[in-house]
Amino acid sequence: MNFTVAIDGPAAAGKGTVSKRVAAEFGFAHLDTGLLYRATGARVLAGADPVEAAKSLTPDDMARDDLRTTAVAQAASKVAALPEVRAALVQFQRDFARREGGAVLDGRDIGTVICVDADVKLFVTASDRVRAERRYLELSGNGHDVTREGVLHDLQVRDARDSEREAAPLAAAADAVVIDTSDMSIEAAVAAATDEIRARLKHVS
Ligand code: C5P
Repeated sequence: MNFTVAIDGPAAAGKGTVSKRVAAEFGFAHLDTGLLYRATGARVLAGADPVEAAKSLTPDDMARDDLRTTAVAQAASKVAALPEVRAALVQFQRDFARREGGAVLDGRDIGTVICVDADVKLFVTASDRVRAERRYLELSGNGHDVTREGVLHDLQVRDARDSEREAAPLAAAADAVVIDTSDMSIEAAVAAATDEIRARLKHVS
């Protein structure tokens, strides 16, 4: 069975957690596409050419332990604005989406560019303040030396760059279901996503 779930949204809206949880619930494979851009950005910070880095990513690059830092997040969003970098990563994502047994991909352009025919498209979002607070708690909880103001600023810079770029900007697909998690628990967000997927699965089977 091929079944693709596309989950897009801005940073720290909860899409990573929702994606992991629904993938586990339905037994689908999960690809966090942000890791492709983070791994490319990390290699560029180490001196690589962005396009060469994107073309030659290895599993080791994707498993580096610095990928969650704010420096790498900013580098990721800079390389993600380059059309040649995005082009180098398209096929890998499309092949993943078509794998047997179902797939969940989360990112910024999955429903609009990578998988325009996805069976389910979700756009998971939340207010800037709520997203910054969540990311602050996550980063400080993992021992990163961050402030609330710094995290909010970082998210706003990154979202502006991701939304305003020419190449595959962050946007909800016209046929995406929007889940605003500002006033929602993660459980409620997962339940809303699960309901959408279950309804569609009934339809196709
Ligand atoms: O989702 P995450 O915060 O890990 O993504 C890091 C950066 O990678 C984003 O700010 C964005 O610039 C880029 N990205 C993208 N398209 C995707 C996934 C991530 O441009 N599908």
